[in-house]
Amino acid sequence: MKIRKVRIHRKVVLDEAAIARKPREIDHVHAAAIPLAGQTAWQGLFRYGQLRAGQVVLIHGGSGGVGHFAVQFAKAKGARVLTTVSTDKVQFARTLGADIVIDYKTQRFEELAPDLDMVFDLIDGETRERSWKLLKKGGVLVSTLTGPSQQTAARYGVRALRYTVEADGKELAEILSLVASGKIKPHVQKTYPLAEAAQALNSVERGDSVGKIVLTVE
Ligand SMILES: NC(=O)c1ccc[n+]([C@@H]2O[C@H](COP(=O)([O-])OP(=O)(O)OC[C@H]3O[C@@H](n4cnc5c(N)ncnc54)[C@H](OP(=O)(O)O)[C@@H]3O)[C@@H](O)[C@H]2O)c1
Repeated sequence: MKIRKVRIHRKVVLDEAAIARKPREIDHVHAAAIPLAGQTAWQGLFRYGQLRAGQVVLIHGGSGGVGHFAVQFAKAKGARVLTTVSTDKVQFARTLGADIVIDYKTQRFEELAPDLDMVFDLIDGETRERSWKLLKKGGVLVSTLTGPSQQTAARYGVRALRYTVEADGKELAEILSLVASGKIKPHVQKTYPLAEAAQALNSVERGDSVGKIVLTVE
């Protein structure tokens, strides 16, 4: 029997307020890398952290999907940016424009990051616990992971919160225009065909990638 290839056109219904048009300057692979990680970074820094020009922020995990956007956004805003990454990723973090890149495998960030206005915590656990004392009074710890202790926050005189990213078309359009103008560069480490999604996930879990990995669909 002869099998004919059929092209399937799928349609999806989306809330108009949650989406933004892809600028022509951004290809589909890079565009795919932006919405979740980019908006998580944007909302953590600006909506919840209220980071302003001239402030000092420590971003834990600056080499990852969210972190590599966060370092670039905070720099574009005019903040002073410190970030923690593992040894092999120090060079990559420098290319993002971080003022101080701390190799968490060989250096203690407590010794290099005093008087912070904000800690952007993409790691949690011991890394968070060691960060409280680095914040100025009135500073803020923002996390994408577990809810930080409000008792500890009160003890240090700081704000602390965790949030879940929301789709916001206006914010996404602002991010896309920064990317289209070349001010922000999404880093796609590698693409995998959808059929190799398991290998892609393994690679993320092994932690051997920087920036984002994108699945391509024929
Ligand atoms: N709340 C939300 O709405 C939301 C949204 C998106 C993501 N998230 C969460 O936010 C976290 C970050 O997301 P992501 O997409 O950026 O993850 P990712 O791409 O896997 O990046 C995590 C990065 O952290 C680094 N890392 C691991 N241990 C570290 C440490 N002790 N100090 C500094 N860096 C360390 C890893 O590299 P090395 O191991 O080489 O250091 C990796 O580059 C994840 O846990 C994710 O589940 C939450």
